[in-house]
Amino acid sequence: MATTSNAQKFEEVCKEATRLNAQAHSADQLMKEIALLLNREMLKYNWVGFYMLEPGADPPTLVLGHYQGAMTPHTRIPLNLGICGAAASSGKTVVVDDVKTDRRYLACSLETKSEIVVPVFVRGQVAGELDIDSHFAAAFSNEDRALVEYCAELVGKRLELE
Ligand code: SME
Repeated sequence: MATTSNAQKFEEVCKEATRLNAQAHSADQLMKEIALLLNREMLKYNWVGFYMLEPGADPPTLVLGHYQGAMTPHTRIPLNLGICGAAASSGKTVVVDDVKTDRRYLACSLETKSEIVVPVFVRGQVAGELDIDSHFAAAFSNEDRALVEYCAELVGKRLELE
């Protein structure tokens, strides 16, 4: 039986995200579907979720939205805390290969070893982020980063239409 190569897998999941975007009725539905897709298809993506900036909150606060994986105690995160706060406040993707060595890290699960957080931009401003935790160290390669950034971009563009 033919096995799927890594590159094929990324391409397949990317195409599926594009298809979900075309079919989704709203950005909210798209976020739900993307969390499901990434958690189901990418074996090392053990927790996948969106945090969105709460409109009008002072200080600015990230609020947990759709997610797949274990419950997390971190449902509200101010921008000065966590890898999540770092990605949202800098507007840059943050990849942490070993969460134990990063002082910013807010623990959700004892099993988490690495994490990627990608900002979601709406009209050039950070509106939220896509956060993924892995039970494997250094789980996020440049290909993973490209896939997760693509998914975050789909959501940002979709939010621009609402
Ligand atoms: N680890 C994150 C907190 C969110 S959980 O991963 C779901 C952080 O350091 O911001």
